[in-house]
Formats: sequence, C-alpha cells, structure tokens
Amino acid sequence: MKIIMLGAPGAGKGTQAKKIASKYGIPHISTGDIFRANIKNGTELGKKAKVYMDQGLLVPDELVVDLIMDRFTEADCEKGYVLDGFPRTIPQAKALDEALAKNNDAMEYAIDVDVPDENIINRMSGRRACVNCGGTYHLVTIPPKTEGICDVCGGELILREDDKPETVQNRLKVYHDQTQPLIDYYKGKGILKTVDGTKEPEAVLEDIISIIEA
Ligand code: AP5
Repeated sequence: MKIIMLGAPGAGKGTQAKKIASKYGIPHISTGDIFRANIKNGTELGKKAKVYMDQGLLVPDELVVDLIMDRFTEADCEKGYVLDGFPRTIPQAKALDEALAKNNDAMEYAIDVDVPDENIINRMSGRRACVNCGGTYHLVTIPPKTEGICDVCGGELILREDDKPETVQNRLKVYHDQTQPLIDYYKGKGILKTVDGTKEPEAVLEDIISIIEA
C-alpha cells in the first residue's frame, strides 16, 4: 500500500500518517522528521536543511530526492509506506513517479487533508512536539497526559522553531505556491482523495480508512 499525505502545514498529515502506518503495518516516512533528526544529530544535511526550515522555506529538491529514494531501499518499505511531507513540489512528484515506474509500480492514493488557512495558525501555536520521538500533541485538542511530557517516551515537549506565527505565515505561502499544485497533479492521475481535516482526528482517520478499504 503506497499512500501520500497532502495538505497545508499543520493540516494533520503527521497525526493521520502515524495512525495509518500503525493500522496497516507500513512505515511512516516523514521528510520533516528526517531533517529534524539530522539537525538534532548535527549532520551536514541537518546543517544545510536548518537554514531553509527556520525561514519556513522548502529544502532544495536535490537534497530531498536522493534522501527519500535511499529510504525506499530499506527492507520495511517492501509492503509500502505512508509518505508525509514528500513530495512537496512538482519536480519531487515526477522524480517519485519515475522511480516507481522503473519497478513497474505506481502510487495508489494521494490523500489531501483539507483544512482552511484560518484554522492553521491556531493549530501550530498549540502544537507541541517531542524532542525524542517526534510525537505530536496539541495543548487544547490533543493534550499529553502530563503537561510538557511525551506520553509515549517521556521526552520533553517543545514548540517547534518553525511553528512561531511569523514563520507559519511563510510556510503557508510556500505551501500555496509550491505544494498545492500537487493536488491537480494527482487529480490528473486519478488517485486524489480529499478528506475534511477539520473533523476530530478519529473521524478523519475513519474517512481515510473508508477510502483505502472501499
Ligand atoms: P514538515 O515537518 O513536513 O512540516 P509541514 O508539512 O509543514 O507539516 P507539519 O508537520 O507542520 O504538520 P502536519 O500536517 O503533519 O500536522 P500535525 O499532524 O503535526 O516539514 C517541515 C519543514 O521541513 C518544511 O517547512 C521544509 O522546510 C522541510 N521539508 C520537509 N519535507 C520537505 C520536502 N519534501 N521538500 C522540501 N522541504 C521539505 O498536526 C498539527 C497540529 O494539529 C498538532 O498539534 C496536532 O496535534 C493537531 N491536530 C492534528 N489533527 C487535528 C484535528 N483533526 N483536529 C484538531 N487538531 C488536530
């Protein structure tokens, strides 16, 4: 099963991708998480990516595509994957299609989690992310059991550097300019499905499952 999660920053792609991955036993591949892990570990890739991420800009395609193609060669990708945050530009989508076509393969679902811009800023300012495992919470809608502590691993929960309101505005602009065109791209390929991302997380998941299991 090969699924792409589409949607604006903060639409809930990561929240849903984790649930889908756990339900179907496939890996959740988040390019944002991969970059954040590289930044935390002080790698060369992390240093390069941080410059763009802190400004709410996209990391250049050439740094992203090789990284993700490498990830696909790992054994856990045999049964498929849920992609979260990739592809994010038309050149990335084309590179992905070409790589799959080489193995007579193709993407099955592009699921757009639709949330209006006006809901996004609130979601981002309330989001808290675990410094250890990347688990995601929201101060109001999805709070951790103990304030500031990750339910899963006990790690510290922080406000992501790029979740500050001024950076979120930038990320939304970048999303509309560079990533939203993917909606038409996947519509043209006949695999686009849209879900209402303003519903409760469990209701959004049910909508996604009914698409996958239809
Ligand atoms: P990335 O980490 O991918 O960020 P993003 O796409 O901006 O998405 P987010 O992680 O911010 O949001 P999300 O949609 O996953 O929402 P979440 O589930 O957390 O990328 C970060 C940066 O890395 C980019 O800006 C770029 O610089 C770089 N990058 C990454 N990939 C790249 C690529 N392919 N090419 C180039 N650059 C790349 O939910 C948000 C909040 O809402 C949470 O608090 C959550 O608890 C809450 N929530 C979720 N669902 C609901 C709901 N249904 N109702 C109420 N609250 C909800």
